[in-house]
Amino acid sequence: MENVFNIPQLSGNLRKELLQSAAEQFGTPLYVYDLERIEARFNALKQAFAGRKALVCYALKANSNLSVIKKLASLESGADCVSLGEIKRAVMAGIPKYKIIYSGVGKQDFEIKEAISLGILFINVESKEEMLRVEACARELGISARISIRVNPDIDPQTHPYISTGLKENKFGVSIEEAKGMYLHAHNAEFLEPIGIHFHIGSQLTKLKPIAESAQKIAQLTQSLLALKIDIKFFDIGGGIGITYSDESTISPYDYAQAILAELRGLDVTIVCEPGRFIVGNSGVFLTKVLYQKENQGKRFVIVDGAMNDLIRPSLYAAYHQILALKNMESKGEAEVAGPICESGDYLGKNIVLPHCERGDILAVLSAGAYGFSMASNYNTRPRCAEVVVENGKIRLVRKRESFEDLIALEKEYL
Ligand code: LLP
Repeated sequence: MENVFNIPQLSGNLRKELLQSAAEQFGTPLYVYDLERIEARFNALKQAFAGRKALVCYALKANSNLSVIKKLASLESGADCVSLGEIKRAVMAGIPKYKIIYSGVGKQDFEIKEAISLGILFINVESKEEMLRVEACARELGISARISIRVNPDIDPQTHPYISTGLKENKFGVSIEEAKGMYLHAHNAEFLEPIGIHFHIGSQLTKLKPIAESAQKIAQLTQSLLALKIDIKFFDIGGGIGITYSDESTISPYDYAQAILAELRGLDVTIVCEPGRFIVGNSGVFLTKVLYQKENQGKRFVIVDGAMNDLIRPSLYAAYHQILALKNMESKGEAEVAGPICESGDYLGKNIVLPHCERGDILAVLSAGAYGFSMASNYNTRPRCAEVVVENGKIRLVRKRESFEDLIALEKEYL
């Protein structure tokens, strides 16, 4: 398929003409997802573990649009969920309950009970206290809860500190020592069934070594648990594989799988992985329209209709997203692409090389399929934008643009 921009972040269906017509048909700001690219990314990862017992559980938090999840369900994906809401989305989109896992540091009783009642694959517990809550909920229900314990291997994942989760100073998981005690407790508990072990050291990982080192530590722990007759069946390696936003090289699914498998020699476990960004990140584009162009004492600003409430990654992490003008590619130098929100931090890109922009021109913000819409808000009473998918060359609406009425629906009766 043609890739007009000839850059790795865009491929498949996301052609310039198609994006332009999506913007014209559905308005801006707008998210566009390429379902065929999502399929290819999912299959690449699944394929890397072929011949092994493995389950890819897509991390819904990256992009939880029901149509995206439905596509992944049709490819036999499982789901990694971090709230009851996400579990409900997964079920609604057709992910079988026995392929759903539930992670997160702050699960509440009502969520735990619902997860146990639904019969999901397992709950990833993150602390001793949480495990005791899971046990209490399971006893109340009279149903044994399948659990896995999230172990914090204390390894530097070499990523942005906000998305680094596997160091001892991070709030996630428990130490190897504590995990041992927890497994012994769970093993002897009437309503707990410890069937898995879990680690996740961070997101947007571009280096394999920290992942392999973590897998090695956790595999050793698994060996010692098996020696105690604690029957660990699932080895959950978390998510985190990075993508190319600019020109960074990333981890190939094959190398990833090989590195994990090398550490698992001799262990008869099902590998579970929880990729989010890897599957959807480069499969999505955020489209926004130029409203104004201005110069402030020598600095060029292109003011667009998309803002930090639509795509917060640049504001929150100073994350870089490549931005391209769809009509005219001739460079006129650098500009800050900024939104209409009343904060200096409201920008989609700084030092972005762009052509001269005219009112109405469409800009494509690349690699926006992960943590884009799923982190959107209504800040400044801005309705969240619409989402469309492209499949078989056709563009289809999968979430309507919110209206002002939607925004005030839960307030107006109190006026
Ligand atoms: N599993 C667990 C336990 C996680 O905490 C996460 C992400 C994933 C899987 C999926 O990670 P991925 O494969 O997408 O890297 N909002 C940030 C990313 C936060 C990631 C949080 N946890 C961003 O926009 O970069």
